[in-house]
Amino acid sequence: MSSIDSKLPSVGTTIFSVMTQLAEQHGAINLSQGFPEFDPPAGLLERARHYIRERCHQYQPMAGALPLREAIAGKLAASYGVHADPEGAVTVTSGATEALFCAIQAVVRPGDEVIVFDPAYDSYEPSVALAGGRTVHLPLAPPAFAIDWDRLRDALGDRTRLVIVNSPHNPTGAILSRADLDRLAELLRPYGCYVLADEVYEHIVFDGEAHATVLAQPELAERSFAVFSFGKTYHATGWKLGYCVAPKALTAELRKVHQYVTFASAGPLQLALADFLAAHPEHHLELPAFYQKKRDRFAELLAGTRFAVTPARGTYFQLADYGAIADEDDVAFARRLTIEHGVAAIPISVFYDEPPPTKLLRFCFAKEPATLEAAAERLGAL
Ligand SMILES: Cc1ncc(COP(=O)(O)O)c(C=O)c1O
Repeated sequence: MSSIDSKLPSVGTTIFSVMTQLAEQHGAINLSQGFPEFDPPAGLLERARHYIRERCHQYQPMAGALPLREAIAGKLAASYGVHADPEGAVTVTSGATEALFCAIQAVVRPGDEVIVFDPAYDSYEPSVALAGGRTVHLPLAPPAFAIDWDRLRDALGDRTRLVIVNSPHNPTGAILSRADLDRLAELLRPYGCYVLADEVYEHIVFDGEAHATVLAQPELAERSFAVFSFGKTYHATGWKLGYCVAPKALTAELRKVHQYVTFASAGPLQLALADFLAAHPEHHLELPAFYQKKRDRFAELLAGTRFAVTPARGTYFQLADYGAIADEDDVAFARRLTIEHGVAAIPISVFYDEPPPTKLLRFCFAKEPATLEAAAERLGAL
């Protein structure tokens, strides 16, 4: 057969896999891909072993194991005072990635416009393209990476079907406040569009700030899919479990897609999480302090280098400016840093449709202190 007429001609291998592979090839310290260097809590692992021993190996319900959906509803009530019906509003998915994909496929039709804010997580645009939609990119300007509300007002229109927001924000560490969500609700009021809120880093917020979820903003809650990830909160990214919370009618549409994408996610792991969430609500309450310590340590270590840092407000990523060190673009610099200096990071231009002339790399600090120290020593040599 001759060449394939690709449905995703501009999609290559994701930068996360590219940089991780390069790090492995060159024995570099890998601060590129976002995964913790430590294990999930021992109690959670014990529950997973229990359910594997207990022969829970067959399909769970399509919407997710009911005890897990009930535990999620309990967590939402305790964390945000939000009431979510475990039967009709909560769907367990194979990672947040699947929830994002299903939500997009559920509502976006050919010709629809989907607004994203750049730098944007890289799974959004290909999912929109597969649904036949068109992605409209609005820039978040450094150093605060805040939404430009005037530009959003100008971009909204009758063709807008979906607005995707991400807070805490990967890769910049910016967060949306409740006032930002109120502003968003006000701007969307004349339109019938939906919101997809990627809140996978909900529990990694620093300096005493609180995460503002769309689920607690009444107008947004009515039109939103809110997406969460157990991988981020329980140090288990490889388990690929997440969930989507949305009003009943939107959930019904999302499930129509979900049932033919994966149908159901890993059974023993769902049951293990259900037990652990019920028994250990303190786990996620400890995350802000746990990660803030790492953020502060990494910033302190970078202060001894020529990288410039504005501390992240959330997520386990830190942007660092290498403008004082090199002139080359961020992709070239990230490659050189990995190959010649033994530290892998993510160039942030890959998260943009039209990258601005910034010199920023994203480092993941979800690592043990010794790893961060070893990385900083290498970065200090530049
Ligand atoms: C902003 C954002 N959304 C979604 C995901 C995907 O989450 P999951 O691993 O649960 O699919 C990630 C993972 O890095 C992320 O950073």
